[in-house]
Amino acid sequence: MSSMQDSREAAMIGRRTDGTTVRRPLSPHLQVYDMLQMSSFSSILNRITGVVWSFGILLVVYWLLALALGPETYATARAAFAHPIGQLVLVGMTVAAWYHTLAGLRHINWDIGRGFSIPAMYRSGWAVFIGTAVLSIITWLPAIPGAVEFITAQINANL
Ligand code: HEM
Repeated sequence: MSSMQDSREAAMIGRRTDGTTVRRPLSPHLQVYDMLQMSSFSSILNRITGVVWSFGILLVVYWLLALALGPETYATARAAFAHPIGQLVLVGMTVAAWYHTLAGLRHINWDIGRGFSIPAMYRSGWAVFIGTAVLSIITWLPAIPGAVEFITAQINANL
């Protein structure tokens, strides 16, 4: 159990040039933080989802280009996104997008100086995880009948 009362307390003891000690703030650091605690885990996941979307945005550009280039190119893009692997990628992108957006809102709350107590930090972290799951499921609800139909057709074809 941590004795910290506030997540901003993470600090290291350093020395000034005159030899006196000073508490310096620590930025997230792989060898310093327990990767499975809420603060570092949710932060790392925010960076990972940000990086994932740096590539995801290329898919959006590809989709728009295909759309602009005409029906044939668009049909290819559509087929790629409709392929089971394409669908898996899109589901992953959806989860990453919701996580990154909700974590971004969590940051806005911190930016206005609220939610720094350890219990509040845990509450907002869980809200981001649960919100991501709920919103991702809601986003994909319309696709579930089609997915069930596809899986049933695959099973029937292999019987
Ligand atoms: C396609 C859209 C986006 C991309 C490609 C993207 C990418 C990234 C990346 C790569 C990082 C990590 C930067 C680093 O740690 O050095 C990041 C951080 C961040 N993003 Fe995004 N982002 C996107 C959309 C958003 C949105 C919509 C929000 C807000 C709702 C947001 C809020 C943030 C915040 C607050 C951080 C900093 C987190 C921190 O300081 O630990 N981002 N983003």
